[in-house]
Amino acid sequence: MPQKLALFGGTPLRTRPFPSWPVFGKSEEKRLLRTLRSGKWGRLHGPAVAEFEKRFAAMHGCKHGIAVVNGTVSLRIALLAAGIRAEVEVIVPPYTFFSTASAVIEANAVPVFADIDLDTFNLDPKAVEAAVTPRTRAIIPVHFAGQPADMDAIMAIANRRKLVVIEDAAHAHGALYRNRPAGSIGHLGSFSFQSSKNLTAGEGGMITTKDDALAEACRSIHNCGRIPDGVWYEHHVISGNYRLGEFQGAVLNAQLDRLEQQIKTRDRNGQYLARKIAGLPGLHPQKRPPDCTRHSHHLFMLRMDPKEFGAPRSVVLQALRAEGIPCSDGYGFSLHRQPMFRNKAFGPYLPKARARLDYRKTQCPNSDLICREQGIWLEQNLLLGPRADMDDIARAFEKLYENSKELRDWLG
Ligand SMILES: Cc1ncc(COP(=O)(O)O)c(C=O)c1O
Repeated sequence: MPQKLALFGGTPLRTRPFPSWPVFGKSEEKRLLRTLRSGKWGRLHGPAVAEFEKRFAAMHGCKHGIAVVNGTVSLRIALLAAGIRAEVEVIVPPYTFFSTASAVIEANAVPVFADIDLDTFNLDPKAVEAAVTPRTRAIIPVHFAGQPADMDAIMAIANRRKLVVIEDAAHAHGALYRNRPAGSIGHLGSFSFQSSKNLTAGEGGMITTKDDALAEACRSIHNCGRIPDGVWYEHHVISGNYRLGEFQGAVLNAQLDRLEQQIKTRDRNGQYLARKIAGLPGLHPQKRPPDCTRHSHHLFMLRMDPKEFGAPRSVVLQALRAEGIPCSDGYGFSLHRQPMFRNKAFGPYLPKARARLDYRKTQCPNSDLICREQGIWLEQNLLLGPRADMDDIARAFEKLYENSKELRDWLG
């Protein structure tokens, strides 16, 4: 006899909360106070952001790290530094946050969507190859949920076609691809430190690169077009002030001390949970190729096939929440289906190219399927606790599966 679901008045499987986010303590307080009392609150005068840039870049196998105000401008600056010119094309996935494509438009270039793989949720190299045209100049693979994209295949296409690769590693602090850090494999990497991210100061971003010239260009663009050893009021390229402040640098240094342990915990718990739930009909946790040597798990993501599981996603999510497992459906639709793309509401950007663009013709069925009916997200903090928490999540899915007929009937 299956246990009664909490959604229908049964006892919730879990009433204890999962670990909260962000995690902070005395070290954040100490560093913040040090910055406060120093009176050096700006990046140009204090040591905190510079220290963080060095440490973060080193951890990610890069010579250079340029801290900026968020993970959206980091993408835009990377594109501009890489010499992306007006109205050329940049290949991006459709299953990602808005910024991966909006940054391309704000660099006055055209985002072209290539579908993701149905099992890894990352860019499908075959779709990338098919999307390349004579106008293509760059590819932005996203390491979705913190699992590295198929970088060997993507770099092979880029090298053959002479394209720039900018890794959108907003989810992938500390993730490893064949033991190489995310953000160090393409020409440039881009990270976010926004509130939900695995390393956070509320807001913030970082560009990583091994290339001296690209680093110099990024540094100039993030600092009003100034150049090394230049005069203060001397500006060489169109740009802006995208410098990160010292308070955020202080918090990020303290958060960085915690990161390694947190990644290990998430990766261990993520693998365990994936193994536990993969046996249930219709549940397909993000497939982990052997190339992924460390998954940083900004999300634990899975695909649920409603036919195989026996109930639609919207009901499953409600029932999971009632059992005490926070979860969501993630992106409601593929990025190219956003009103901004449908209506070509590009402001002053792409004045010429927009006439030939019609994003209603873009075909990305895998992304559409995941958005429309199959994607389920669990946020990273759920993976920060003990293994027993994973057992609770797995048991909740089992309980739902045992009651799938009731869940289906509930909808009528
Ligand atoms: C994949 C991806 N890229 C870029 C960004 C943009 O980062 P930010 O919010 O720091 O601008 C995000 C943030 O959610 C993201 O998820």
